[in-house]
Amino acid sequence: MSVETRLLIPTQAGLDDAAAILQRGGLVAMPTETVYGLAGDARNGAAVAQIFAAKGRPHFNPLIVHVPDMALAMQIGVFDDQAAAIAAAFWPGPLTLVLPLRDDAGLAPLVTAGLGTVAIRIPAHPVAQALLRAFGGPLAAPSANPSGRVSPTTAAHVMQGLGGRIAAVLDGGACPVGVESTILGLAGAPSLLRPGGVPAEALETMLGPLVIATNAEKPTAPGQLASHYAPGAAVRLEVTRPDPGEIWVGFGPDCAGATMTLSATGDLVEAAAALFQTLRAADDLTGAEGSIAFAPIPDHGLGRAINDRLRRAAAPRG
Ligand code: TXA
Ligand code: MG
Repeated sequence: MSVETRLLIPTQAGLDDAAAILQRGGLVAMPTETVYGLAGDARNGAAVAQIFAAKGRPHFNPLIVHVPDMALAMQIGVFDDQAAAIAAAFWPGPLTLVLPLRDDAGLAPLVTAGLGTVAIRIPAHPVAQALLRAFGGPLAAPSANPSGRVSPTTAAHVMQGLGGRIAAVLDGGACPVGVESTILGLAGAPSLLRPGGVPAEALETMLGPLVIATNAEKPTAPGQLASHYAPGAAVRLEVTRPDPGEIWVGFGPDCAGATMTLSATGDLVEAAAALFQTLRAADDLTGAEGSIAFAPIPDHGLGRAINDRLRRAAAPRG
């Protein structure tokens, strides 16, 4: 699947074009002060699934949600006094806060990988700010590079890596900071989840010594990201004939009798967008004694990330 990737310049017309693409569920690479981000509507599950597809990411990790101002940030995350003070001191800027997710945030569950927390950032870059305002909503945006490659700091880098895979790149010149944002976890004890553009020492003058929790960056083993949503029910994979009483989650047209489906047509983008709410819905139906059986999912494209997540859900728990 190849598309023509437009190079847009940040005039009002270019910003309006970029915002229209995002409103249609398309992807736009946008400059921020740290690195270029691959932006999609954080409320649109299919748009978020396309972000993972374009990057070729073999797993779903939670993404950072970018907002233009505190008013929108407070519609998404729960800010206590400490979080509000940190936000006032460092936003807009290269800092991301992980906060409890509001029940009524309206984000696609894929953005947070089904977690009860959300990573939020108000970027300072004028072009990112202008795009967020033109779009008028939250944008999920990981770095705009293919999975496993270095983060891009110019529009040309983005074109080299993702040209042909996304609708547009908004050219805002070179990113001034050049490394990703610092990620500060404030959902529990303040912890440094990723070092980045804001020095940890600057945060520690306000918060005291930070817990260093860099493992949360790369959850490799099932359960390593402790708060990751795991169903209470048992999970079986690649099931073409479910046991009696089992909840069967289908994929594709050959699953007559399935209780629910990730995608009746076998569309991997649709399946990725539905994954986390389906896990939760199936779990609610079965209860802890029950079992959820997933039909086979092809192991290519987004199917790799879906299967990675399902294997974690199916892994034995301690
Ligand atoms: O500088 C940046 O932060 C860039 C620019 C584009 O803003 N964005 C960026 O996004 O690096 P991303 O999505 O690649 O960073 C996501 C990181 C992941 O390592 C993820 O584990 C962590 O943020 N993260 C996101 N939500 C989280 C959560 N609820 N709990 C813990 N970690 C979270
Ligand atoms: Mg990255």
